[in-house]
Amino acid sequence: MRFDVLTLFPAIFAGPLDCSILAKAREKGQIAVGIHDIREYAEGRHRVTDEPPYGGGGGMVMKPEPIFAGVASVRERFGPGKVVLMSPSGERLSPALAKRLAEAEEHLILVCGRYEGVDQRVADHLADLEISIGDFVLTGGELPALVLIDAITRFLPGVLGDPEAPHNDSFSEGLLEAPHYTRPPVFRGNAVPDVLLSGNHAEIDRWRREEGIRRTARLRPDLPLPEQDKKAGRK
Ligand SMILES: C[S@@+](CC[C@H](N)C(=O)[O-])C[C@H]1O[C@@H](n2cnc3c(N)ncnc32)[C@H](O)[C@@H]1O
Repeated sequence: MRFDVLTLFPAIFAGPLDCSILAKAREKGQIAVGIHDIREYAEGRHRVTDEPPYGGGGGMVMKPEPIFAGVASVRERFGPGKVVLMSPSGERLSPALAKRLAEAEEHLILVCGRYEGVDQRVADHLADLEISIGDFVLTGGELPALVLIDAITRFLPGVLGDPEAPHNDSFSEGLLEAPHYTRPPVFRGNAVPDVLLSGNHAEIDRWRREEGIRRTARLRPDLPLPEQDKKAGRK
């Protein structure tokens, strides 16, 4: 899958894309990521990318022309791709959305806003979808774009060593995941639950499911219990 990112701050992307699973996925050709400086598509001697808002108010608004030109250039070079505007007003990122994009799309063009945001004509006439990573406001769309790339990449075939992992992780079935333990069996007097050392995989699966339900009820009572657990009489 290919991601092209339009940003005013390309340097932000170097570290996260060059480490661990994202770096390996790039090396193996499972993903390709192009980072493009919006300023290069701005015209005039000063390559202005933002202006004060019409109607007054503080802050600056990103101009539409360099963003439209940047997307056109990316499409000319790398083919058509859906345009995603990173925005606090967008559809909230979820595992279902990340999975859907991993399965349905081959190329996404991510637009990162800054300052007060992006001229509305980008959302209205260029973006195919707007995505928010949560109900809080960050200083720019770069970290949200990285979050989106990471969340989608985990769902691409062959990226994670265990292909079942993304489907067992927290939220994938509407539940938080059961806790994990590793060696030593007792640490500072705190023992690993016996069942995990039992070797009985049916028991371990049952314990993990029940522990996931308990943790979800305790930590995220807002998440509804999956139908199959309601039917099994679990509360
Ligand atoms: C400071 S924010 C602008 C916030 C805007 N004035 C508002 O109230 O919605 C600048 C840029 O950061 C990005 N951004 C901030 N928070 C985000 C979030 N939760 N999800 C996705 N993008 C976000 C967007 O690209 C946004 O245009």
